Amino acid sequence: MNEFNTIIPSGYNNIVVLTGAGISAESGIKTFRASDGLWEQHRIEDVATPEGFAANPQQVYRFYNQRRQHLLGHQIKPNAAHIALAEFERSFKGHFLLVTQNIDNLHERAGSQNVLHMHGELLKSRCIQSGQLLETIRDIDDQSRCQCCNPAKGIRPHIVWFGEMPLFMQQIEQALSQADLFVSIGTSGNVYPAAGFAAQAGLFGATTLELNLDTSANQSVFDYSVQGRATELVPQFFNPHTFTEQKG
Ligand code: OAD
Repeated sequence: MNEFNTIIPSGYNNIVVLTGAGISAESGIKTFRASDGLWEQHRIEDVATPEGFAANPQQVYRFYNQRRQHLLGHQIKPNAAHIALAEFERSFKGHFLLVTQNIDNLHERAGSQNVLHMHGELLKSRCIQSGQLLETIRDIDDQSRCQCCNPAKGIRPHIVWFGEMPLFMQQIEQALSQADLFVSIGTSGNVYPAAGFAAQAGLFGATTLELNLDTSANQSVFDYSVQGRATELVPQFFNPHTFTEQKG
């Protein structure tokens, strides 16, 4: 018995989980809005908008090259929260979709299968002409070229910038409409459309729960909100035994 047994009383068949920077914080990846976060040190307009890329592409390439190098450093590993979600997905009998706003690959490295990166991926680049994706582990710059066009064209980070459309929205919205449980983990609830998912799932009848270190901007829309560290709360909540016991 743990504290979640009292707030989540029944079993579920369709679960959608949304993760944000907070789930990777204990793996050593900076969040965006903390006092030492990425947006304290960089202006969003400079490094996370199409206009910033057009004005100073080298600065934007450099920003994501640094993030990629950091992600690929040997000290960055999936933590107990990533691992708990992957283990839960493996044992859960119903539908389980993990939507992440994160551009790191820690969910996949932990073993998660059904993952949608709605804000793109750091280890991919995109042809500016065709949109085709390219696995990317090395630095890229304005001299880097695609492998799909002839003559080869320039590539950009496969990141959804402010003012651009998040990815997989149709799939996500369909999953939200069918969800009976929606869980948000480690996100401040400041960036839409992700910040609207809880309300959307709730309207379709899902129970909504948030697990976050601090109070989020959209806390009031959740049925339940639990404050704490992802590495403690996620393994506790996504415990396959608890779910099995609850079912039926
Ligand atoms: P934020 O930096 O806005 O918020 C991170 C949240 O994680 C905060 O609410 C923290 O309280 C929480 N947190 C920090 N450490 C935690 C821990 N150990 N356990 C649990 N929670 C913890 O990051 P996001 O909400 O992910 O978009 O930001 C959303 C989007 O804004 C990002 O995907 C990015 C950014 O601009 C784009 O770049 C398009």
